Amino acid sequence: MTTYDVAVIGGTGPQGKGLAYRWARHGHRVVLGSRSAERAQQAAAEITARVPDASVSGAVNADAVAGADVVVLAVPYDGHDDLVAALAEQLAGKVVISCVNPLGFDKQGAYGLDVPGGSAAETAAALVPSARLVGAFHHVSAVTLWREEGYLDHEDVLVCGDDADAKAVAIELARAVTSRDGVDAGRLRIARQLEPWTAVLISINKRYKTRSGTAISGLPH
Ligand SMILES: NC(=O)c1ccc[n+]([C@@H]2O[C@H](COP(=O)([O-])OP(=O)(O)OC[C@H]3O[C@@H](n4cnc5c(N)ncnc54)[C@H](OP(=O)(O)O)[C@@H]3O)[C@@H](O)[C@H]2O)c1
Repeated sequence: MTTYDVAVIGGTGPQGKGLAYRWARHGHRVVLGSRSAERAQQAAAEITARVPDASVSGAVNADAVAGADVVVLAVPYDGHDDLVAALAEQLAGKVVISCVNPLGFDKQGAYGLDVPGGSAAETAAALVPSARLVGAFHHVSAVTLWREEGYLDHEDVLVCGDDADAKAVAIELARAVTSRDGVDAGRLRIARQLEPWTAVLISINKRYKTRSGTAISGLPH
């Protein structure tokens, strides 16, 4: 197993912190990024309380990215473009994994937004052309990630991207979450389907009062 230095931008939110917890538990070195160093350090302390021997720290976003091999974007879509543009220099050349779901909510529930750049992941790629963008971890629920339990081995992490080596990193990082490799779902533009798929899961969750996930059948073992 390769051990990665992972920076999680939005690491103070439930999704970023949940993913960070899983990666820290699996032996990766994690830095939680935030607009506030104090908030980031508090979130890191919550993970350390659960995994005392983990390598977890907190820093402002730009500093978190600086020392990382892999950067995970776990921020709301609202404000995403400005944040990515502001970090463009630090993100250049890095593997950048986006789990950002551009969703709207109204009386009928959740729905996928029309994204001018096609998807959040493609927008980030357009803003930082040298970054090696991957879309992944869109469908794993923050609540489930944070729960003190085993792997989410009834779910698959779907991974898309145009850079095969960068995609392989996300496929490997999925092991910390599901106990197995992520599923290669194709090119980066597939993020246009993966991101709004979360609206389907939210709709199912509401109807059945559950926390649904995504699992792919028919894969070779
Ligand atoms: N929640 C889930 O179950 C789930 C599941 C799959 C995917 N996702 C996706 O993961 C992303 C994060 O979800 P979340 O629920 O963790 O979101 P969140 O709590 O709303 O936001 C995460 C963090 O992003 C930072 N942030 C908020 N607005 C920002 C802005 N305008 N500019 C820069 N940073 C900002 C905040 O950190 P600081 O204030 O500390 O900087 C915040 O703690 C979203 O795109 C979501 O669609 C979520």
